[in-house]
Amino acid sequence: MKKTILFATLIMTACTPEQEENLGLKDAFSDDFVIGMALNTQQYKEQDSRALPILNKHVNSITPENDMKWMYIHPEVDQFYFDDADQFVEFGLKRGDFIVGHTLVWHNQIPDWVFEDESGEPLSREELLERMRDHITTIVTRYKGKIDGWDVVNEALNEDGTMRESKWYQIIGEDYVAKAFQFAHEADPEAHLYYNDYNLHLPDKADGAARLVASIQAQGIPVTGIGMQGHWGLDYPSVPVLKRSLDLFAPLGLIAITELDIDVLPSASGYRGADVTRREDLFDEINPFVEGLSDSVQTLFDKQYHMLFDVFEEYSDNIHRVTFWGVTDGDSWKNDWPVEGRTNYPLLFNREGKEKSVIQEILD
Ligand code: XIL
Repeated sequence: MKKTILFATLIMTACTPEQEENLGLKDAFSDDFVIGMALNTQQYKEQDSRALPILNKHVNSITPENDMKWMYIHPEVDQFYFDDADQFVEFGLKRGDFIVGHTLVWHNQIPDWVFEDESGEPLSREELLERMRDHITTIVTRYKGKIDGWDVVNEALNEDGTMRESKWYQIIGEDYVAKAFQFAHEADPEAHLYYNDYNLHLPDKADGAARLVASIQAQGIPVTGIGMQGHWGLDYPSVPVLKRSLDLFAPLGLIAITELDIDVLPSASGYRGADVTRREDLFDEINPFVEGLSDSVQTLFDKQYHMLFDVFEEYSDNIHRVTFWGVTDGDSWKNDWPVEGRTNYPLLFNREGKEKSVIQEILD
């Protein structure tokens, strides 16, 4: 709090109105955490003229939304595809960003061959561990000293905090997570290494994540901390559950908010999570804001972002990064997931790339 007041005073006394106008999120929170965004391919190739000014003004950390996932960067057994990832990293280096690699070990957006031998039979534990080691070592070594932090393992947990029965888990066993961290650390001992998951505001899942990370650290394998994806909604997380998780994660290292967005659309199923394989049907009632967001929902949206940044600032000694999952509303995966073809408004920049008014509130 003291820090905030001092900083606000400095800005008030040191900034001309013009400088204040140009103050971005990254500057306003420079004493607290870095501000990130997930970029699609066009954006880091500098082909999206709406995104570039936003990135220049507000952002000092970047994550590739898809292009480093296994199916893209390692599409065949003996074939890595680095062209896009190289350009992503070059873009971040040129800008001086805190560059995040997403993600090394996950059960989605990964080809079936990873878990099979040449005749389609499941690999043994040792074979799969070797394949995982090769994947991690090859990629992390290539970007050693360039990529600053890795989402090493993504979404290994069920909602009740037990281990998800993914192929990684079924074939290798629970220690696949520890092994992934060990291989990543061996390849780049300086990089931040995160365990990343959704719904980590929920107590059972948060407890599972804390247990998992603590058990890996207890084996002497470094884990920098926990990445809370932050795919949230207008009425969740509440302040108490969010703080409960932050209090639980803080002693384990740094916390990153890795994929922040706020879904403003109604849900027919009531599902709250981020399982990318989920599909729900489209009908008019769950797509009510095609022509624009209602004032009442806009108010809730502003309030929720406001609350989140208040809490993030309170925990700024523990939170290293806040990354939004996309640049503008039009880019967001939330327009097509879990229901395809809706008009959602989850981010801080509208479809034209204009700042929403809540940014000024957050800055103030
Ligand atoms: C999403 C991307 O945004 C989509 O473009 C893609 O089709 C599916 O994946 N959790 C994660 C992210 O860790 O990688 C996911 O990104 C969203 C949920």
